[in-house]
Amino acid sequence: MSNIISGKEVAAEVREGLKAEVEALVKDTGVRPGLAVVLVGDDPASQVYVRNKKKACEKAGINSIEHRLPAETTEEELLTLIGELNADTSVHGILVQLPLPDGLSEDRVLETIDPSKDVDGFHPYNMGRLVTGKPVFEPCTPLGIMRLLHSTGIDLKGKEAVIVGRSNIVGKPMAFMLLREHATVTICHSRTRDLKEKVRGADVVVAAVGIAEMVKGDWIKEGAVVIDVGINRIEDGSLVGDVEFATASERASYITPVPGGVGPMTIAMLLSNTVRSAKLSASGEKAVAS
Ligand code: GUN
Repeated sequence: MSNIISGKEVAAEVREGLKAEVEALVKDTGVRPGLAVVLVGDDPASQVYVRNKKKACEKAGINSIEHRLPAETTEEELLTLIGELNADTSVHGILVQLPLPDGLSEDRVLETIDPSKDVDGFHPYNMGRLVTGKPVFEPCTPLGIMRLLHSTGIDLKGKEAVIVGRSNIVGKPMAFMLLREHATVTICHSRTRDLKEKVRGADVVVAAVGIAEMVKGDWIKEGAVVIDVGINRIEDGSLVGDVEFATASERASYITPVPGGVGPMTIAMLLSNTVRSAKLSASGEKAVAS
Protein backbone atom coordinates (compact mmCIF):
# COMPACT_ATOMS: atom_id res chain seq x y z
CA MET A 1 0.00 0.00 0.00
CA SER A 2 1.46 3.35 -0.97
CA ASN A 3 1.78 6.69 0.73
CA ILE A 4 -0.68 9.26 -0.48
CA ILE A 5 0.90 12.59 -1.41
CA SER A 6 -1.53 15.23 -0.22
CA GLY A 7 -1.27 18.14 -2.61
CA LYS A 8 -3.93 19.79 -0.53
CA GLU A 9 -1.66 19.83 2.52
CA VAL A 10 1.51 20.82 0.67
CA ALA A 11 -0.40 23.59 -1.14
CA ALA A 12 -1.84 24.86 2.15
CA GLU A 13 1.70 25.11 3.59
CA VAL A 14 2.92 26.97 0.50
CA ARG A 15 0.00 29.35 0.68
CA GLU A 16 0.53 30.07 4.39
CA GLY A 17 4.17 30.87 3.64
CA LEU A 18 3.16 33.17 0.77
CA LYS A 19 0.66 35.00 2.93
CA ALA A 20 3.44 35.84 5.38
CA GLU A 21 5.71 36.91 2.49
CA VAL A 22 3.00 39.19 1.12
CA GLU A 23 2.46 40.82 4.51
CA ALA A 24 6.19 41.43 4.86
CA LEU A 25 6.45 42.82 1.32
CA VAL A 26 3.57 45.25 1.89
CA LYS A 27 5.03 46.34 5.23
CA ASP A 28 8.56 46.80 3.89
CA THR A 29 7.90 48.27 0.46
CA GLY A 30 4.22 49.23 0.23
CA VAL A 31 3.93 46.94 -2.81
CA ARG A 32 1.01 44.52 -2.77
CA PRO A 33 1.24 41.78 -5.42
CA GLY A 34 -1.45 42.03 -8.11
CA LEU A 35 -2.61 39.30 -10.47
CA ALA A 36 -4.78 40.11 -13.49
CA VAL A 37 -6.88 37.17 -14.66
CA VAL A 38 -8.48 37.42 -18.09
CA LEU A 39 -11.35 35.10 -18.97
CA VAL A 40 -12.80 35.25 -22.47
CA GLY A 41 -16.13 33.54 -23.12
CA ASP A 42 -18.17 31.35 -20.82
CA ASP A 43 -16.51 27.93 -20.68
CA PRO A 44 -17.92 26.48 -17.43
CA ALA A 45 -14.70 24.72 -16.32
CA SER A 46 -12.69 27.90 -16.92
CA GLN A 47 -15.17 29.88 -14.82
CA VAL A 48 -14.62 27.51 -11.90
CA TYR A 49 -10.80 27.75 -12.26
CA VAL A 50 -10.91 31.54 -12.41
CA ARG A 51 -13.17 31.73 -9.34
CA ASN A 52 -10.80 29.46 -7.40
CA LYS A 53 -7.77 31.51 -8.44
CA LYS A 54 -9.50 34.69 -7.26
CA LYS A 55 -10.38 33.19 -3.87
CA ALA A 56 -6.84 31.90 -3.39
CA CYS A 57 -5.40 35.34 -4.20
CA GLU A 58 -7.65 37.02 -1.68
CA LYS A 59 -6.66 34.56 1.06
CA ALA A 60 -2.96 35.20 0.42
CA GLY A 61 -3.39 38.99 0.39
CA ILE A 62 -2.77 39.28 -3.36
CA ASN A 63 -4.87 41.79 -5.31
CA SER A 64 -6.86 39.94 -7.91
CA ILE A 65 -8.03 41.94 -10.91
CA GLU A 66 -10.55 40.06 -12.99
CA HIS A 67 -11.39 40.86 -16.62
CA ARG A 68 -14.32 38.92 -18.04
CA LEU A 69 -14.79 39.44 -21.74
CA PRO A 70 -17.57 38.12 -24.01
CA ALA A 71 -16.88 35.20 -26.39
CA GLU A 72 -17.24 37.63 -29.34
CA THR A 73 -14.22 39.67 -28.20
CA THR A 74 -11.89 40.32 -31.12
CA GLU A 75 -8.20 39.51 -30.99
CA GLU A 76 -7.36 43.21 -31.30
CA GLU A 77 -9.51 44.03 -28.26
CA LEU A 78 -7.87 41.28 -26.24
CA LEU A 79 -4.37 42.35 -27.29
CA THR A 80 -5.20 45.95 -26.36
CA LEU A 81 -6.25 44.85 -22.87
CA ILE A 82 -3.03 42.84 -22.47
CA GLY A 83 -1.05 45.90 -23.55
CA GLU A 84 -2.76 47.94 -20.83
CA LEU A 85 -2.04 45.29 -18.21
CA ASN A 86 1.61 45.12 -19.36
CA ALA A 87 1.87 48.87 -18.70
CA ASP A 88 0.03 48.84 -15.35
CA THR A 89 2.62 48.89 -12.54
CA SER A 90 0.11 47.55 -10.00
CA VAL A 91 -0.16 44.33 -12.04
CA HIS A 92 2.69 41.87 -11.44
CA GLY A 93 1.16 38.82 -13.04
CA ILE A 94 -1.08 38.36 -16.09
CA LEU A 95 -2.94 35.14 -16.73
CA VAL A 96 -5.15 34.59 -19.75
CA GLN A 97 -7.27 31.53 -19.05
CA LEU A 98 -6.99 28.85 -21.73
CA PRO A 99 -8.53 27.55 -23.90
CA LEU A 100 -9.55 30.69 -25.76
CA PRO A 101 -12.72 30.74 -27.88
CA ASP A 102 -12.32 29.78 -31.55
CA GLY A 103 -10.95 32.55 -33.71
CA LEU A 104 -8.50 33.91 -31.13
CA SER A 105 -4.86 32.96 -31.61
CA GLU A 106 -3.47 31.51 -28.42
CA ASP A 107 0.07 32.03 -29.70
CA ARG A 108 -0.42 35.69 -30.49
CA VAL A 109 -2.11 36.32 -27.15
CA LEU A 110 0.54 34.53 -25.09
CA GLU A 111 3.35 36.25 -27.00
CA THR A 112 1.85 39.66 -26.22
CA ILE A 113 2.08 39.18 -22.45
CA ASP A 114 5.19 40.86 -21.02
CA PRO A 115 7.46 37.87 -20.16
CA SER A 116 8.29 39.52 -16.82
CA LYS A 117 4.58 39.32 -15.90
CA ASP A 118 4.02 35.89 -17.46
CA VAL A 119 3.30 34.03 -14.21
CA ASP A 120 1.88 31.09 -16.22
CA GLY A 121 5.32 30.62 -17.80
CA PHE A 122 3.79 30.05 -21.25
CA HIS A 123 5.54 32.85 -23.19
CA PRO A 124 8.15 31.48 -25.62
CA TYR A 125 10.81 33.48 -23.73
CA ASN A 126 10.01 31.69 -20.49
CA MET A 127 9.68 28.34 -22.26
CA GLY A 128 13.08 28.92 -23.86
CA ARG A 129 14.64 29.82 -20.52
CA LEU A 130 13.24 26.59 -19.06
CA VAL A 131 14.63 24.52 -21.94
CA THR A 132 18.10 26.05 -21.55
CA GLY A 133 18.07 25.40 -17.80
CA LYS A 134 17.88 29.06 -16.76
CA PRO A 135 14.19 29.45 -15.90
CA VAL A 136 12.51 32.71 -14.94
CA PHE A 137 8.80 31.88 -14.65
CA GLU A 138 7.92 28.20 -14.99
CA PRO A 139 4.51 26.67 -15.79
CA CYS A 140 2.55 26.16 -12.58
CA THR A 141 1.36 22.55 -12.87
CA PRO A 142 4.76 20.92 -13.49
CA LEU A 143 6.34 23.29 -10.97
CA GLY A 144 3.81 22.10 -8.39
CA ILE A 145 4.58 18.50 -9.31
CA MET A 146 8.28 19.08 -8.63
CA ARG A 147 7.34 20.34 -5.16
CA LEU A 148 5.30 17.20 -4.58
CA LEU A 149 8.16 14.99 -5.75
CA HIS A 150 10.54 16.82 -3.41
CA SER A 151 8.08 16.29 -0.54
CA THR A 152 8.58 12.51 -0.92
CA GLY A 153 12.35 12.87 -0.49
CA ILE A 154 13.00 11.01 -3.77
CA ASP A 155 16.39 11.69 -5.39
CA LEU A 156 15.60 11.98 -9.10
CA LYS A 157 19.19 11.54 -10.23
CA GLY A 158 19.39 8.70 -12.75
CA LYS A 159 15.75 7.72 -12.26
CA GLU A 160 13.61 6.65 -15.21
CA ALA A 161 10.80 9.21 -15.50
CA VAL A 162 7.96 8.54 -17.92
CA ILE A 163 5.56 11.35 -18.78
CA VAL A 164 2.33 10.39 -20.50
CA GLY A 165 1.13 13.45 -22.44
CA ARG A 166 3.04 16.08 -24.44
CA SER A 167 1.08 19.30 -23.88
CA ASN A 168 2.81 22.67 -23.74
CA ILE A 169 1.20 23.28 -20.34
CA VAL A 170 2.29 20.06 -18.58
CA GLY A 171 4.11 17.30 -20.49
CA LYS A 172 6.83 19.31 -22.26
CA PRO A 173 7.79 21.66 -19.40
CA MET A 174 7.65 18.70 -16.99
CA ALA A 175 10.28 16.92 -19.06
CA PHE A 176 12.77 19.79 -18.74
CA MET A 177 12.21 20.15 -15.00
CA LEU A 178 12.88 16.43 -14.45
CA LEU A 179 15.87 16.58 -16.76
CA ARG A 180 17.32 19.44 -14.73
CA GLU A 181 17.30 17.11 -11.73
CA HIS A 182 19.12 14.46 -13.76
CA ALA A 183 16.26 12.04 -14.38
CA THR A 184 16.23 10.11 -17.66
CA VAL A 185 13.05 11.34 -19.28
CA THR A 186 10.70 9.69 -21.77
CA ILE A 187 7.69 11.59 -23.13
CA CYS A 188 4.91 9.28 -24.31
CA HIS A 189 1.86 10.29 -26.32
CA SER A 190 -0.99 8.94 -28.42
CA ARG A 191 1.37 7.47 -31.07
CA THR A 192 3.74 5.82 -28.62
CA ARG A 193 4.18 2.11 -29.29
CA ASP A 194 3.67 -0.16 -26.30
CA LEU A 195 2.90 2.46 -23.67
CA LYS A 196 2.44 -0.29 -21.11
CA GLU A 197 6.09 -1.38 -21.39
CA LYS A 198 7.31 2.20 -21.14
CA VAL A 199 5.32 2.78 -17.94
CA ARG A 200 6.44 -0.58 -16.53
CA GLY A 201 10.05 0.60 -16.64
CA ALA A 202 9.37 3.89 -14.87
CA ASP A 203 10.54 4.91 -11.39
CA VAL A 204 8.43 8.05 -11.73
CA VAL A 205 5.22 8.24 -13.76
CA VAL A 206 3.52 11.54 -14.58
CA ALA A 207 0.14 10.97 -16.24
CA ALA A 208 -1.26 14.02 -18.04
CA VAL A 209 -3.40 12.81 -20.91
CA GLY A 210 -6.93 13.71 -19.82
CA ILE A 211 -8.35 10.22 -20.35
CA ALA A 212 -10.02 8.59 -17.36
CA GLU A 213 -7.94 5.75 -15.85
CA MET A 214 -5.98 5.24 -19.05
CA VAL A 215 -2.85 4.19 -17.15
CA LYS A 216 -3.66 0.81 -15.64
CA GLY A 217 -2.64 -0.04 -12.11
CA ASP A 218 -0.80 -3.22 -13.11
CA TRP A 219 1.49 -1.19 -15.42
CA ILE A 220 3.03 0.48 -12.38
CA LYS A 221 6.40 -0.83 -11.25
CA GLU A 222 6.57 -1.91 -7.60
CA GLY A 223 7.76 1.12 -5.58
CA ALA A 224 7.30 3.73 -8.35
CA VAL A 225 6.16 7.28 -7.60
CA VAL A 226 2.94 8.09 -9.45
CA ILE A 227 1.75 11.63 -10.18
CA ASP A 228 -1.73 11.93 -11.65
CA VAL A 229 -2.54 15.23 -13.36
CA GLY A 230 -5.88 14.12 -14.82
CA ILE A 231 -9.25 15.31 -13.57
CA ASN A 232 -11.97 13.45 -15.45
CA ARG A 233 -15.65 13.39 -14.60
CA ILE A 234 -17.12 9.95 -15.21
CA GLU A 235 -20.69 8.78 -15.76
CA ASP A 236 -21.59 8.41 -12.07
CA GLY A 237 -20.57 12.06 -11.56
CA SER A 238 -17.39 11.33 -9.63
CA LEU A 239 -13.90 12.58 -10.47
CA VAL A 240 -11.11 10.20 -11.45
CA GLY A 241 -7.57 10.71 -12.64
CA ASP A 242 -5.66 9.39 -15.64
CA VAL A 243 -4.40 6.49 -13.51
CA GLU A 244 -6.40 3.57 -12.12
CA PHE A 245 -5.92 4.63 -8.51
CA ALA A 246 -7.03 1.59 -6.52
CA THR A 247 -4.72 -0.89 -8.24
CA ALA A 248 -1.86 1.58 -8.81
CA SER A 249 -1.80 2.48 -5.12
CA GLU A 250 -1.15 -1.17 -4.23
CA ARG A 251 2.14 -1.02 -6.15
CA ALA A 252 3.36 2.58 -5.95
CA SER A 253 5.52 3.86 -3.09
CA TYR A 254 3.86 7.27 -3.38
CA ILE A 255 0.82 8.37 -5.36
CA THR A 256 -1.24 11.55 -5.72
CA PRO A 257 -5.01 11.32 -5.26
CA VAL A 258 -7.63 12.92 -7.51
CA PRO A 259 -8.93 15.33 -6.34
CA GLY A 260 -6.57 16.80 -3.74
CA GLY A 261 -3.27 15.91 -5.46
CA VAL A 262 -1.80 18.00 -8.26
CA GLY A 263 -4.78 20.39 -8.64
CA PRO A 264 -4.25 22.47 -5.49
CA MET A 265 -0.54 22.83 -6.29
CA THR A 266 -1.19 24.58 -9.61
CA ILE A 267 -2.89 27.50 -7.89
CA ALA A 268 -0.28 27.61 -5.11
CA MET A 269 2.49 27.92 -7.74
CA LEU A 270 0.57 30.64 -9.58
CA LEU A 271 0.47 32.64 -6.36
CA SER A 272 4.13 31.89 -5.76
CA ASN A 273 5.12 33.15 -9.22
CA THR A 274 3.01 36.30 -8.69
CA VAL A 275 4.64 37.06 -5.34
CA ARG A 276 8.08 36.53 -6.86
CA SER A 277 7.25 38.89 -9.71
CA ALA A 278 6.05 41.54 -7.25
CA LYS A 279 9.22 41.15 -5.16
CA LEU A 280 11.41 41.56 -8.22
CA SER A 281 9.44 44.62 -9.24
CA ALA A 282 9.65 46.13 -5.72
CA SER A 283 13.41 45.62 -5.61
CA GLY A 284 13.86 47.24 -9.00
CA GLU A 285 15.36 44.00 -10.32
CA LYS A 286 14.27 42.90 -13.74
CA ALA A 287 13.02 39.35 -14.12
CA VAL A 288 13.63 39.73 -17.83
CA ALA A 289 16.38 41.85 -19.32
CA SER A 290 15.01 44.25 -21.92
N1 GUN B 1 -6.06 26.18 -18.62
C1 GUN B 1 -5.80 25.00 -18.03
N2 GUN B 1 -4.72 25.11 -17.22
C2 GUN B 1 -4.31 26.38 -17.31
C3 GUN B 1 -3.25 27.11 -16.71
O1 GUN B 1 -2.44 26.60 -15.92
N3 GUN B 1 -3.17 28.42 -17.06
C4 GUN B 1 -4.02 29.01 -17.93
N4 GUN B 1 -3.85 30.29 -18.22
N5 GUN B 1 -5.01 28.36 -18.51
C5 GUN B 1 -5.15 27.07 -18.19
